[in-house]
Amino acid sequence: MKRRKLWYQTAVFYELYVRAFKDSDGDGHGDLKGVIERMDYLADLGVDCIWLLPTYPSPLVDDGYDIADYYGVHADYGSLEDFKALIEAAHARGLRVVTDLVMNHTSDQHPWFQASRRGEAPYTDYYVWSDTDDKYADARIIFLDTESSNWTWDEERGQYFWHRFYSQQPDLNFDNPAVQEELFDIARFWMDLGLDGFRADAVPYLIEREGTNCENLPETHDYLKRFRAMMDEEYPDAILLCEANQWPEDVRPYFGGDADDPTVPGDEFHMGFHFPVMPRLYMALKRGNRTPVVDIMKRTPEIPANTQWCTFLRNHDELTLEMVTEEERQWMWKQYAPDPRMRLNLGIRRRLAPLVDNSRHKIELLNSLLFTLPGSPIIYYGDEIGMGDNIQLHDRNGVRTPMQWDNGRNAGFSTAAITYTPAIDDPIYGYQRVNVADQLANPTSLLYRMHKLIAIYKEQPALALGDLNFLDHPDRALLAFERTYNKETILCLHNLSQRGVKLRAPTSWDLLADVTWHEGLMTIPPFGYRWLKIEFGRQRLL
Ligand code: NOJ
Repeated sequence: MKRRKLWYQTAVFYELYVRAFKDSDGDGHGDLKGVIERMDYLADLGVDCIWLLPTYPSPLVDDGYDIADYYGVHADYGSLEDFKALIEAAHARGLRVVTDLVMNHTSDQHPWFQASRRGEAPYTDYYVWSDTDDKYADARIIFLDTESSNWTWDEERGQYFWHRFYSQQPDLNFDNPAVQEELFDIARFWMDLGLDGFRADAVPYLIEREGTNCENLPETHDYLKRFRAMMDEEYPDAILLCEANQWPEDVRPYFGGDADDPTVPGDEFHMGFHFPVMPRLYMALKRGNRTPVVDIMKRTPEIPANTQWCTFLRNHDELTLEMVTEEERQWMWKQYAPDPRMRLNLGIRRRLAPLVDNSRHKIELLNSLLFTLPGSPIIYYGDEIGMGDNIQLHDRNGVRTPMQWDNGRNAGFSTAAITYTPAIDDPIYGYQRVNVADQLANPTSLLYRMHKLIAIYKEQPALALGDLNFLDHPDRALLAFERTYNKETILCLHNLSQRGVKLRAPTSWDLLADVTWHEGLMTIPPFGYRWLKIEFGRQRLL
């Protein structure tokens, strides 16, 4: 299908945790000014859009996803002026900025909730209250390790309130038109500062209905479509990125349009995370077998021509195993999280490099898949240099440690005596060995490899927009597919095993090695990968 090129469809995203990135004032916490100081690093890396994790005032029970004031900036991070300056600094370098909009819930410290629990108008029905805790019994619990119910008793109000995440994060009542309007106004406020859009958090759960699992309900889609219409009308260049950790067929409606006709423009979200492909990349790698990836991509429906998937290898949460079978989950835990401390809820709280035992080949191979399979790639801060994690830290904090800039004090992140959390300091991933400065000084570093993958990705629209066609080969360790766009075809070859894989390759230009291959036998080395540009219409022999 022919796609028109829209900026977000060919963009590389960088997910940035402000607290961890750079501390500009020596208080031990990263801040917005620190991000501005390091904006050139991001521009040089070649990314197009920064996704900032929440920077709102918050008691930080869920690290900022529990918002106490939608109209401000957490004091640790700076001020609204700093936020504006960050956007300007990004725009001056041709980068865009999106941030999280947490729609589904607030903090219990939010003044709306405080007023609501006292029964004060007009906030009485801003949250979902009930006299009993047995409603919506079919809704699953998400933070399984912490919560035993989606209802919590509130002494002051004398009722239970509904929450899909921590009990300190009461769900807003989206059946209340006033709540719906509040979210419109909040979005307008941030867009007027110059933002380029939002990553909309936890959208499947906005509305509850008895007898359903309270996810992906038609009423939720109706509201989100109205939200999009407002954005299109008032901020036509902005994007909305949907966080719905669901199967591809259940994410498809979040793009809107017509499920049977991808030429009908989407009218809900511009982008949506493709959650289920992520664990399958790790699964395929460990098994040395392409099947999990091929199967999930074949199960992925077409999306409207004006939309795009977002893909990622890791993010600030646990590597979620919600979108796999129970058997696969057990297998993934056994393979990738042998120590119980590595597990959290239905996932694995580890970073990319430790997940693959710091194998440079495997880190690159997974990144190659990230850049060549459909979807705009998102790089999680620190993964571009192969940072490690700290499983001794609570919750997901182990993958949110300070960015490792150099081998100096606190990894060059902060001059403070004590930082919000210590920089990784172990013999393998410690900042003395893994840091930006060293990698910038070394042309063979992972960081430079990432620069190259990003640069070529941006030169080759077929990788972002091309049709996907898997190719068969008797050896299932070979994951081979073509991306074709505008009469250009790129053949992407990935060897998922630790032995060489032989194939017959067509005459082609090797985009990464800068060499021409003549038709004939080719061996892809263990965990190797190639991006080959082939003449349009030419037979690809495998
Ligand atoms: C998804 C976010 O990625 C996660 O960090 C957060 O805890 C939940 N939504 C709740 O907001």
